[in-house]
Amino acid sequence: MKDASPQTVYLKDYTPFGYTVEHVDLTFRLSPDATRVISRIRFAPNPAATDRTFFLHGEELNLISARIDGAEVSPEVTDKGLTCEVPDTPFTFEAEVEIAPARNTALEGLYMSNGMYCTQCEAEGFRKITYYPDRPDVMATFDVRIESDLPVLLSNGNPGPRGEGHAEWSDPWPKPAYLFALVAGELEARSDVFTTRSGARVDLNLWVRPGDLHKTEWGIEALKKSMRWDEEVYGREYDLDVFNIVAVDDFNMGAMENKGLNIFNSSAVLASPDTSTDANFERIEAIIAHEYFHNWTGNRITCRDWFQLCLKEGLTVFRDSQFTADMRSAPVKRISDVIALRARQFPEDQGPLSHPVRPESFQEINNFYTATVYEKGAEVIGMLKRLVGDDAYSKALDLYFERHDGEACTIEDWLKVFEDATGRDLAQFKRWYSQSGTPRLSVEERYEGSDYTLTFRQTTPPTPGQAEKAPQVLPIAVGLLNPNGDEVVPTTLLEMTEGEQSFTFPNMPSKPVPSLLRGFSAPVVLDHEASGEDKAFLLAHDTDPYSRWEAGRSLARASLIASILERTEPDAAYLDGLKRLVTDPALDPAFRALMMSLPSQNELAQVLHEKGVTPDPDAIFEAVESLLRAMAERWRDVLPALAEEARVSAPYAPDAEQSGKRALGSAVLGLQTRLDGGAAAKAQFENADNMTLSLSALGALVRADAAEDALAAFETRWSGDRLVMDKWFGIQIMLAPPQVAPDRTRALTEHPAFDWTNPNRFRAVMGSLAGNHAGFHRADGAGYEILGEWLSRLDEKNPQTAARMASAFQTWTRYDDERRAKARATLERLYEKPGLSGDMAEMVGRMLG
Ligand code: PHE
Ligand code: ZN
Repeated sequence: MKDASPQTVYLKDYTPFGYTVEHVDLTFRLSPDATRVISRIRFAPNPAATDRTFFLHGEELNLISARIDGAEVSPEVTDKGLTCEVPDTPFTFEAEVEIAPARNTALEGLYMSNGMYCTQCEAEGFRKITYYPDRPDVMATFDVRIESDLPVLLSNGNPGPRGEGHAEWSDPWPKPAYLFALVAGELEARSDVFTTRSGARVDLNLWVRPGDLHKTEWGIEALKKSMRWDEEVYGREYDLDVFNIVAVDDFNMGAMENKGLNIFNSSAVLASPDTSTDANFERIEAIIAHEYFHNWTGNRITCRDWFQLCLKEGLTVFRDSQFTADMRSAPVKRISDVIALRARQFPEDQGPLSHPVRPESFQEINNFYTATVYEKGAEVIGMLKRLVGDDAYSKALDLYFERHDGEACTIEDWLKVFEDATGRDLAQFKRWYSQSGTPRLSVEERYEGSDYTLTFRQTTPPTPGQAEKAPQVLPIAVGLLNPNGDEVVPTTLLEMTEGEQSFTFPNMPSKPVPSLLRGFSAPVVLDHEASGEDKAFLLAHDTDPYSRWEAGRSLARASLIASILERTEPDAAYLDGLKRLVTDPALDPAFRALMMSLPSQNELAQVLHEKGVTPDPDAIFEAVESLLRAMAERWRDVLPALAEEARVSAPYAPDAEQSGKRALGSAVLGLQTRLDGGAAAKAQFENADNMTLSLSALGALVRADAAEDALAAFETRWSGDRLVMDKWFGIQIMLAPPQVAPDRTRALTEHPAFDWTNPNRFRAVMGSLAGNHAGFHRADGAGYEILGEWLSRLDEKNPQTAARMASAFQTWTRYDDERRAKARATLERLYEKPGLSGDMAEMVGRMLG
């Protein structure tokens, strides 16, 4: 039996809380096993509400005493919260509770990480700190007093008086409780100053454990770039005297946007050239920006309820991707985002976990911090911007900030701002928020007289709870090329609103080649049976970088599918066309590296599944391997020159230019290793003077099954660095030959450094197993079993991280009967486990259907 019968919450049931909170005073007497939290909350009846039930959330709290307007009261307490008789005029509620941060392994609420106290309150963690209406539409100003002998004591807002053993903080901006934060520990800071556009001085600090200061420079630089960018592009200034960031080693997610006190997983903020890859640097820059941007999109304007999560997350992801596009290369960023969307969001949207960007019900909100809410949520905003145009988008955003500052809003409020700013009716567009599933778009061409007509058809397959789908608004960016390669119609936006719709381009002297869905203008699957010839033509001539890349991608996909189904040799014409591109010195090396990347094995499995073929993970693995071998053979003559071109002689910098070269170099090294068995990779490993080169060499060696010495050397050198050791654990599983992946995973769980209660370490091992497609889906079920065991174990300590990782099983029904039986048995065993968390029960329940 499950822990407690899980409660489903519905969007349609929303009602406002019966009371507003005018102000909160909190005092913390910190102690690992018995922290006292003393709260003083000023409530008033909420004129906008009818229900006056006074219920405060509270979980795992030991209530010591409670008072209303100074008089002791005895509330009725359950394991979910308390209720109490209260006056019908404004009143002050006080409570003293005791909590045990040292025993908090779920990392939600107040917990400890390496002797340091920290908090995580989103989404519903504040209720583990004290009794409170823990819902985002209750906003209040907070004053906080922290009592502890630890040297650094932090909370939200501006610092107040600091004395021996205590500190005070005051946050003047009303906020929901999920943005509350507290940190206490022995920390050191890298400090800086930012002057806002209007001349206000902001003190910046990035707090870390002693010993990590050398990894803080990049984070502070990224923060300053983000602050400047948000002023320049969105007109948004920072609004407090200080901005603190803290790095913690034990953290369930990437980072958290607590007002004025962002808390980061150390993997999402700490960087140095020795220990971090180019990809790490780029990700850190993006996450710092993301959390900073939340100050306006999330904090100043927050969500009315958790169904509206995409209001802050979709928008903030969209903003951080604009930022990255501006800081680095816009086409490279766009292509990388499409790769990530297809790898993470499409499988979710096309399987048992499919849900709308704005879900309408949930059991555990922690399970809805998904690629759909975040990444598809950002795509929806990108479409909106394309449809209304850049100027109208800025106008709408200005109106959003002006109209809703200080409020807790809904998607309706968001869309209304666009309707008011542009005069457009967005009723149909709103389906992007309510319909789940990935729309499929098919195309037919007709050329008659001099009229060229494109006829599109959209359908969305049924998803859980949604059998019927209505047509959605699809912005389809199209360009037309004439047969000599010139662009005859530059990018044009077709606005599709019907299930089937035609668009005619008159006066075309010859039949053009269409370049469809430029820039990936809508998050759909494009079923376009273009000929290999047309694709090769677009690969050579398309002016839109995304479409050019996609032409190559779809040739690769076709070649791989043919080799899986018909045992054909890799497509030589494709390899030669790609070779011309990859060796073209006029093209950005980062783009060339992206051109060399192949569709993932998971994506190929999905393509086969949609064709009605049961995917065989081993056959998919073999097809990818033989394509890479063929590529290596066919490009043998140009690999040395490419490797030379990818060499960086300047001192290491994690910028777009150098990273692009190293990405190209890494792709080339992968091919070279297929020819030389690892000689070039060994040399690179030995001479590497930065982590990017070191890790790409190590990866190539692991893949070639020639990494034993390198892995040992790497471990010896980096055993003292947690973040680097996560890479060491991860890479040898992720890139292991599939047959050995499950056994290697099991062996590594016995390694003394497999500190599995640390979410980063758990993910490094189990997430990498899940990422090794043919290894995880090994025919004997060993991959499923080991992941199932560890999910079960972690669920007892940290349900949130365990439940997230369970989504590795989301595609289980695609495979053959034997594999399905094994996956089902694993999931059922988990589901039946006594005391399983609500988080895990919801995830596994949805996957079992
Ligand atoms: N709100 C955080 C972000 O996206 C993510 C997060 C959610 C962190 C829940 C912790 C817990 O920026
Ligand atoms: Zn976010």
